[in-house]
Amino acid sequence: MGVTGMLASQLGQLWRFLGFFQPPVLRLLHASVVVLVAVQVLTRLAGLSMTHAIMGLVLCVLGFGLMALGLGTRGPRNYYPYLWGDMDQLKKDVAAIRSGKLIIAPRPKGLACVVQGLGMGALTMSLLTGLWLFRSWQMGEISHTAATMHSIFVFLLLGYAVGHGGMALGHFFFWKKSTVKK
Ligand code: HEM
Ligand code: HEM
Repeated sequence: MGVTGMLASQLGQLWRFLGFFQPPVLRLLHASVVVLVAVQVLTRLAGLSMTHAIMGLVLCVLGFGLMALGLGTRGPRNYYPYLWGDMDQLKKDVAAIRSGKLIIAPRPKGLACVVQGLGMGALTMSLLTGLWLFRSWQMGEISHTAATMHSIFVFLLLGYAVGHGGMALGHFFFWKKSTVKK
């Protein structure tokens, strides 16, 4: 198998793995958002301002769509249980980690979901400050406040993406090792 074939096979398995966690439309939106956030980073690094702005607008639709569907499907209490003083699963997960367990399954209202809730905050703010920056750019005078805020929230979002995405990939490889035959 060539490199492309191997990559396609890995992505296919990852797609299947994500299906254990997310219903079809949620999984599709989530995957599109992951790809578009990467596109935003790349267009920024390449200095493609126009492409960044246009894809940014597309990302706003998909990103807000992902969060609305997640919240609608699982309920806000899944991602923000502490607002209801509902910390049982969170405490269990933290205790498991403190006892040295590295791989803990994502459970409703648990650590993974709480982290996703915070990630939604970073995503929302990245999108809103992006829109603000885009609007000021359109009006002919780039807002420096918007640019600074956009950089800060994007930085937080990328930190989330590395942490959350990294944990998910960790679970993926662990799952493959334990199920897929060599
Ligand atoms: C969430 C993914 C995004 C990432 C990773 C990202 C990243 C960045 C970065 C690093 C900058 C440079 C900031 C600076 O140093 O001044 C920037 C600028 C900018 N972003 Fe975003 N951004 C994202 C989403 C958006 C969205 C949703 C919009 C809205 C349409 C947007 C519109 C802009 C505009 C207009 C600029 C300034 C113009 C330019 O220099 O291209 N971005 N973005
Ligand atoms: C910018 C990057 C990312 C963002 C903004 C993001 C955002 C989100 C959000 C909002 C959720 C909650 C939706 C739900 O309840 O299903 C979620 C869940 C999830 N994400 Fe991501 N994600 C990103 C990257 C990744 C990557 C790279 C992977 C794996 C390769 C991944 C794997 C997962 C999994 C498995 C879940 C569901 C876990 C559970 O059931 O608790 N994510 N993500």
